[in-house]
Amino acid sequence: MKIGVLSGGGDAPGLNAVIRAVTRTAVLKYGWEVLGINDGFEGLLTPIKTRPLTPWNTRGILFLGGTILGTTNRGNPFAIKSIVGGKEIVTDESWTVVNNIKELGLGALIVIGGDGSLKIGHKLHELGVPITGVPKTIDNDLSATHVTFGFQTAVDTATDALDKLHTTAESHQRVIVLEVMGRYAGWIALQAGIAGGADVILIPEIPYSTEKVAEKLLERKKAGSKSSIVIVAEGAKPAGGDMAVRETAADGYVLRLGGLGEIVGDQICKSTDLEVRVTVLGHLQRGGSPCPYDRLLATRYGSAAVELIAQDKLGEMVSFQPPEIKSVPIERVISDLKLVDPEGDLVKTAEAIGVNFGR
Ligand code: F6P
Repeated sequence: MKIGVLSGGGDAPGLNAVIRAVTRTAVLKYGWEVLGINDGFEGLLTPIKTRPLTPWNTRGILFLGGTILGTTNRGNPFAIKSIVGGKEIVTDESWTVVNNIKELGLGALIVIGGDGSLKIGHKLHELGVPITGVPKTIDNDLSATHVTFGFQTAVDTATDALDKLHTTAESHQRVIVLEVMGRYAGWIALQAGIAGGADVILIPEIPYSTEKVAEKLLERKKAGSKSSIVIVAEGAKPAGGDMAVRETAADGYVLRLGGLGEIVGDQICKSTDLEVRVTVLGHLQRGGSPCPYDRLLATRYGSAAVELIAQDKLGEMVSFQPPEIKSVPIERVISDLKLVDPEGDLVKTAEAIGVNFGR
């Protein structure tokens, strides 16, 4: 038996821990061969880009950020973009992938990815490719799993940034706005915001009013607070307004969000007399060593993905349903995003301790 493994979409801390666990479980427990596919699904187009993985050549990667296999969030084989005669054309090369997988002799392919890569995995599965999935994204926005690996490390990084921003904000009597990632979900902003003592948290699930944010900050100043911290999720938007989009594809698909921190900073400047600075945390949230929680989760996911293959549970994705790792059909995972409940316990707890969500 030979299996393949690839990482697709944006990287997340813990990818290497999954790759290591897949390799060790497949080789040491089952005696299978493992082939790493380089650069996500792109590695399954022609020319094929693979490398054999063994417990030996995956030593020392448990604590490494990134992915030794490389990844891309633009290589969808069902819609490959190229420029012909100065014009962009889109072609479906999924059959090349299906045929190359057959040629490689893969009995199964493990796709480590977020909603985009798992959607591709699901479509390949419908074309007859034996797929199992591992949920990955710092955004934690995949339904059907309690948590994705990479998220906790991103929350740690954002919380650490808030700890640092508190001290400089206090020294200079400023408002500091921190913009964090998360696409359409506010999990990173919400959890880091609570853990890092933010005064205002803006998330996509709760459209904000600039007046309410300004009111909160002025109230704090009046009560004697020297500084305030505002954390904004990149996908948050004002009530009746739009998200801050940086890049859109020709078909309207939003490729990149970003810029809301500056917008909110300007809005606070205009509606108060407070001095404001803005920090964008960006890809620091995706880089670096995974925290122990993510190493453990990634190891459990990687090993469980191999067990799914051994049990012939193809078309399934491993899912953390505390305290156990179980599995769910991949199609269930990709059908809807997991968003913050605006009336849920976390938001209510934050509001109870005085955090403002701009509402
Ligand atoms: O999905 C993970 C993520 O980091 C999002 O939080 C963010 O919006 C996006 O990827 C950034 O993508 P890129 O690496 O292409 O800038």
